[in-house]
Amino acid sequence: MERTLIIVKPDAVQRGLIGEIIRRFETRGLRIVGMKFMQISRELASRHYAEHEGKKFYEPLLGYITSAPVVVMVLEGSEAVTVARNTIGETHPKDAKPGTIRGDFGLEKGRNLVHGSDSVTSAEREINLFFAAEELVNWQRNTDPWIFENL
Ligand code: RTP
Ligand code: MG
Repeated sequence: MERTLIIVKPDAVQRGLIGEIIRRFETRGLRIVGMKFMQISRELASRHYAEHEGKKFYEPLLGYITSAPVVVMVLEGSEAVTVARNTIGETHPKDAKPGTIRGDFGLEKGRNLVHGSDSVTSAEREINLFFAAEELVNWQRNTDPWIFENL
C-alpha cells in the first residue's frame, strides 16, 4: 500500500468545494488515514514547496497556499500517488481532462484547487512535514476486500 499527501488548497476551501473534493478520493477507493483543517504558515509552505524556490511563480505560490485555510489529508491505497494525481488532473487546469478535479473546477494554474504528492519519496517527505506519526490512523474498512483484490 502507498500513501500520498493531499492538500485541498485555499481556493477550493473558499469556494465550498471541500466536500466535493474529498468525495472524489473517497469514492475512488482511497482510504483516509489522516486529515486536518489548518492554515499553512509561510515557513511550512516554503518547506513543502522547497523544490520551486527561485522560480518565477514561487512567491505567488507561497502567497496562494498561505492565503486561507486548507484541508490536509493522507490517503492510502494501491498506487495511491499515481491514482490521486490522475484524479486531480494536469497542473494547468486548462490541460486537465473533464472528470478530473482540476478539469471540472479550475481555469488557471495558480488556482488549481488541490495538491497531490508527485512520487512515493515526495509523499513520505510531505506526510512527515504535515503529520506526526500519532495523527495517522492504521485501520481497515469493512469494504476493503471489495476495493483491494489482494489483501
Ligand atoms: P502541486 O505540487 O500543487 O500538486 O502541483 P503540481 O505538482 O501539479 O505542480 P508543480 O509543478 O509542483 O507546481 C506547484 C504549484 O505551483 C503553481 N505553479 N504555477 N505559474 C506557473 O508557471 C506555475 N507553475 C506551477 C501551481 O499552483 C502548482 O500546483
Ligand atoms: Mg508538485
